[in-house]
Amino acid sequence: MREFTKYVHGKEILGEKFTRSLSVPIYQTAIFTFSSAEEGASIIAKEKEGYFYTRLGNPTIRAFEEKMAFLEEGEDACAFASGMAAISAVIFALIKTGDEILASYPIYGCTYTLFTSILPNFGVKVEWLPARNFTEELKRKISKKTKLVFIETPTNPTVEVIDIKESSEIAHRYGAKVVVDNTFATTFNQKPLKLNADISLHSATKYISGHGDTLGGIVIGDKETIKNLKENLIRNFGGVLSPFNAWLLLRGLKTMALRMSKHNENGLKVAQFLENHPKVKKVSYPGLSSHPQYEIAKKQMSGFSSMIAFELKGGREAGRKLMNNIKLCVCAVSLGDTATLIEHPASMTHFSYSKEDLEKSGISEGLVRMSVGIEDAEDIIEDLEQALAKI
Ligand SMILES: Cc1ncc(COP(=O)(O)O)c(C=O)c1O
Repeated sequence: MREFTKYVHGKEILGEKFTRSLSVPIYQTAIFTFSSAEEGASIIAKEKEGYFYTRLGNPTIRAFEEKMAFLEEGEDACAFASGMAAISAVIFALIKTGDEILASYPIYGCTYTLFTSILPNFGVKVEWLPARNFTEELKRKISKKTKLVFIETPTNPTVEVIDIKESSEIAHRYGAKVVVDNTFATTFNQKPLKLNADISLHSATKYISGHGDTLGGIVIGDKETIKNLKENLIRNFGGVLSPFNAWLLLRGLKTMALRMSKHNENGLKVAQFLENHPKVKKVSYPGLSSHPQYEIAKKQMSGFSSMIAFELKGGREAGRKLMNNIKLCVCAVSLGDTATLIEHPASMTHFSYSKEDLEKSGISEGLVRMSVGIEDAEDIIEDLEQALAKI
């Protein structure tokens, strides 16, 4: 199967499995019954295949997991109720008291809070390395105590790029695992496991859902880690995806290749427009040759997605005016939606950052983040043009 076909058919060539229905059915049930006490005991003991309780397995959720493992070319996958449920489960599965994590910054606001405010309570040390020269810093800071290297590429919100292959080579020399938050790039544009990372994860809420109507998370990796996530983290922490949301995510995947092609195309057009606009100071988009990590992006991404960070010459006030004057684009957090979304990281998605960390991360008061949608690029540009004219 070629790439677009995979998103349509994936693993869901259904045959008899789901009574030949074209769409995977929603098993909207918490409980599956046993035909006898003996059967119940053998399903629970895993001697016999079968479902018994949705937190511990459900066919709709499983179909989503199988399709994601297939698309991202991993051994297996485990779904979660949200991206944050996926991230926290991976951390608690791989890390114990006394371990050290090296993480890239900037990073999504809630991952930052998890790492800075929660993990230290469990005796886990997190050291932050800048995305802009991550691999050089990684070489300097990594030691035998490092158990995990956690990177987000492209980064939220500054859209910087980290070399996944080189980071993995360095980490593996020290026996550390590499986890990549692949949310911004998506499976369609970037396959971290093929670049030797150990785990790839996503907020499925974003481009996978694609329609801003559900929350979800997905982790793809080796069989052993996924088994641990299912049998320990989902089972005992309980951040399980609902069957209905699994079905919405499966539906999102059907059009994902098509949507991502348009997102990639529009992302570049809008980034080029912004780069040439006199009121714009700086644009960060990995598909622009002016991007500091353009060469790395070209090497590891097959498309550049549609996340853009830019700074206006007029700083915060200009950003406020832009967001208050858009007519077609929408002022909102989140990303990966069909509609173009614009937000202000310092007061919205990255509100939890300390003042120093905002500064250190390059999240200035004037930084604006944009998730370019799948409208006609010309309409998005015209809307930006009229809003910029009001500044
Ligand atoms: C890069 C990234 N990772 C993880 C998350 C968390 O995902 P969720 O909101 O599905 O918990 C987000 C949310 O914005 C994100 O942008």
